Amino acid sequence: MIYQGGEMVNQARDAILEVLKNSKKVLFFILLFNLTASLVSMLQPVLFKDLFDQILPKKQIDTAIYYILLIVLLPVVFAALNSATAYYNNELGKRLSKDLRVRLFSHLLEIRPKQIDQIGRGEIINRLTSQVGMLCEVFVVESVMSIVSNIFLLLSTLWIMLTMSFELTLVAMISFPVFMYISKRFRNKTEKLDDMYYTVLEQGMSYLKDFFSNFKTVHLFNGQEAEKKRWIEWNDQAWGISRKSHVFHNMTVNLIADLVISLITGIVYGYSLYLILSDKILAGTLLAFIIILPRLYSIFKSLFTVHVDLTRMKVIMGNLNEIFSMERIECGHLLPDFNKVPRLELRNVTYRYSGENSPGISKFSLDVEPGSFVGIVGLSGAGKSTLFELIHRHLEPQSGEIRLDGINISEFNIHELRKYVAYNPQKTVLWSSSILENIIYPKKKEEMDESLTRKFNAAVELSHVRDFVEVLPDKYDTKIVSNGENLSGGEIQRILLARTFMNDPKILMLDEYTSALDAMTESCLNDTLLKLKGKVTILVIAHRLSTIKNADYIVVVDNGKIAETGSPEELLSMHGVFRSMYDKQKI
Ligand SMILES: Nc1ncnc2c1ncn2[C@@H]1O[C@H](COP(=O)(O)OP(=O)(O)O)[C@@H](O)[C@H]1O
Ligand SMILES: [Mg+2]
Repeated sequence: MIYQGGEMVNQARDAILEVLKNSKKVLFFILLFNLTASLVSMLQPVLFKDLFDQILPKKQIDTAIYYILLIVLLPVVFAALNSATAYYNNELGKRLSKDLRVRLFSHLLEIRPKQIDQIGRGEIINRLTSQVGMLCEVFVVESVMSIVSNIFLLLSTLWIMLTMSFELTLVAMISFPVFMYISKRFRNKTEKLDDMYYTVLEQGMSYLKDFFSNFKTVHLFNGQEAEKKRWIEWNDQAWGISRKSHVFHNMTVNLIADLVISLITGIVYGYSLYLILSDKILAGTLLAFIIILPRLYSIFKSLFTVHVDLTRMKVIMGNLNEIFSMERIECGHLLPDFNKVPRLELRNVTYRYSGENSPGISKFSLDVEPGSFVGIVGLSGAGKSTLFELIHRHLEPQSGEIRLDGINISEFNIHELRKYVAYNPQKTVLWSSSILENIIYPKKKEEMDESLTRKFNAAVELSHVRDFVEVLPDKYDTKIVSNGENLSGGEIQRILLARTFMNDPKILMLDEYTSALDAMTESCLNDTLLKLKGKVTILVIAHRLSTIKNADYIVVVDNGKIAETGSPEELLSMHGVFRSMYDKQKI
């Protein structure tokens, strides 16, 4: 179970129950067909008994033919009812899995991106697809529903048996406690095997995810043989466990169960012969029992093995609840004033990454006048990107405050805040769609109206995307493949930049956006920033002095703190961190 704020989180179960509540009609049909099927299946032994005990002794041939016809037809009716049940089961399963998948996805959209890595991307994909499918389409509709139908069947079977012979029923029921004992004995072992299997499966998923992210690295460093070995090792491991589990279930457990069934069947037959000889029952009753017994035992078997599925269900529910229990970001409600460039203030902001010795950011204070252009420099790992992550609310300060015009940024609606403050991070991934759709994301090409087209034209002009797209044969419809493999680093940077310009932001944060640009393009983009200067607050993290030569002032970050501030000239004359970076050509 997962607890959150003292409350148990079982949203997976709640979601399932809610869908079940809204699917009364489907549930009604499933129950109706189940009930009818179990009654129909019970008719056959009754007809046999009557045929042998009543009709044949009286030599009523017409009635006998009629009975035989019925006996032949009944399995057809039974099969038809079963397929109707299967249809509705399938319907219900699909409904459940769709609902759960949408809920999980919606939840994932609201959490912090870094939380994804707590579970792992591969594993989340596995949970969202195959595990939800197993839970809803196999375990809920088949296993749970099989409990319902088996209980119906059991009750009707017992009823028929009791009407035929109380004593024989009693003997046949000896198997019940025996099955109970066997199932209890093997439960722990089953759970252990399942646990092992799921762990190995999870490892495989993570490995595959990692493998495909590093596909190129494998080729770059000739890792094919090593990866093949790892994959074979994983397969051997998975195969080993699955074989153990198979042997255990299908051979050990089933063999023991079948042995018990045969023994008890033998006892029932022997006892019924005795009853026939002492004229307590007729041969028809024995015949009916011969048909009933295998059915009774298969009901027992499924009832006592269903716990295997229930345990697996519990594991999956736990996995899904783990996703649901990931904390959502507090959304906030204030709307920023898009007509105004705000004053940005950082007051004693501290953030430390958990479990790391790195300082992150500590007691960081900075005042940024509306419309100023601030260059941020510092050695790698100094905490520059962390600063932007905090201002864009991908991280929350552990102490201190970040304010826009005096209002704590956590009070703003997060979606509006992220339009108001545009951020181009150091590492971003492109979608496998056209250049146009990457720039106007999350809008689609079909949604391009006049105002969007105007914004788009302005953005591609400012970011100098137009310069290289105009010469491409498909222009803006050019497809981006595998995160931009068909584009140069500088072209990707410019596309990302155009995307940040789309929302008409009032604060612009660019993290090392010139690192992959040639001197020509950089100089063009410097002109762009110069054009924006005064109209938008610009914060630029840079490793090149040329990128921030137009800045009003430069902030030098060292070890999560501000080491120096001033214009490039002032900083150079200070002979401090900036000067030493400059001398060592680190900037
Ligand atoms: N997600 C993270 N988890 C743990 N530590 C991190 C994470 N991101 C960054 N760090 C650490 O925090 C420090 C500051 O990182 P960052 O702000 O990215 O530095 P910069 O952008 O100045 O190079 C570094 O020591 C880095 O290793
Ligand atoms: Mg960085």
